Amino acid sequence: MHLTVTPSDMSCGAMVRGADLSQPLTSAQAAEIRDIWLKHQVVCFPDQALSDDDLERFTLAFGPFGDDPFIAPIPGRKHIIAVKRAAGETSPIFAESWHSDWSFQATPPAGTCLYGITIPPEGGDTLFVNQIKALEQMPDDLRRRIEGRKAIHSAKNAYSPKGMYGAGDTGRSMDIRASDEAEASHAHPFIRVHPETGKESLFGCAGYIVGVEGMAQQEAWDLVTEVYRWQTRPEFQYRHTWQKGMLLMWDNRSTLHMATGGYAGHDRLLHRTTIGSA
Ligand SMILES: [Fe+2]
Repeated sequence: MHLTVTPSDMSCGAMVRGADLSQPLTSAQAAEIRDIWLKHQVVCFPDQALSDDDLERFTLAFGPFGDDPFIAPIPGRKHIIAVKRAAGETSPIFAESWHSDWSFQATPPAGTCLYGITIPPEGGDTLFVNQIKALEQMPDDLRRRIEGRKAIHSAKNAYSPKGMYGAGDTGRSMDIRASDEAEASHAHPFIRVHPETGKESLFGCAGYIVGVEGMAQQEAWDLVTEVYRWQTRPEFQYRHTWQKGMLLMWDNRSTLHMATGGYAGHDRLLHRTTIGSA
């Protein structure tokens, strides 16, 4: 396996050719891919032909499976969810807001793998923002306001029965199971040191962040909003355009991402796993 890495011309992201991920990776190959992933944060492997077994095996080469709440796995699998949308669906696009996957958990997943099975001819790009760069370039006065502070993360605005994907969310083909468990919260520092690279990064954003420890709600929201405006700026973004057979893996510890629409009238299906923190 000789890998060719082509970095994007945006703030992060790289295309990797030369891998056949339908075959098991040796530990040396997995280590090489891990290094590429940590360096580029979002890595795309085009032209793959992967079964669900292959997707699971690839995921496990990089850590244990993550714990995926609120979305039922596909039949016969415990750790794969279907990110899907039917051609005629009119509900809001799933995950069309910036987030780091499951950042409300005590130990959020290190990474996510997403494999394109049915890809519309247009639209459906996934956007990422590089949170290492966003922090590096953050104005000092804003950085000072979050330094040493912890943000309170919760899934309640999305997955509680009153949330975006709760009882009022109908006509969606994804199998989302809203629950009162979404009311739980966990605090994480705004600025974290990446456990593998040692680089500082912003972690998470408004959406799953619902408050700031030790700060009154209005003041907290003003701060979280100001950080959000900075950390999602266009110069920190990478826009990923999908093709069928692409496997994407990203680092949730150093990026945010969001889905986009623009493919009304077309089916879309991707299979997703999360890589837990080792
Ligand atoms: Fe996501």
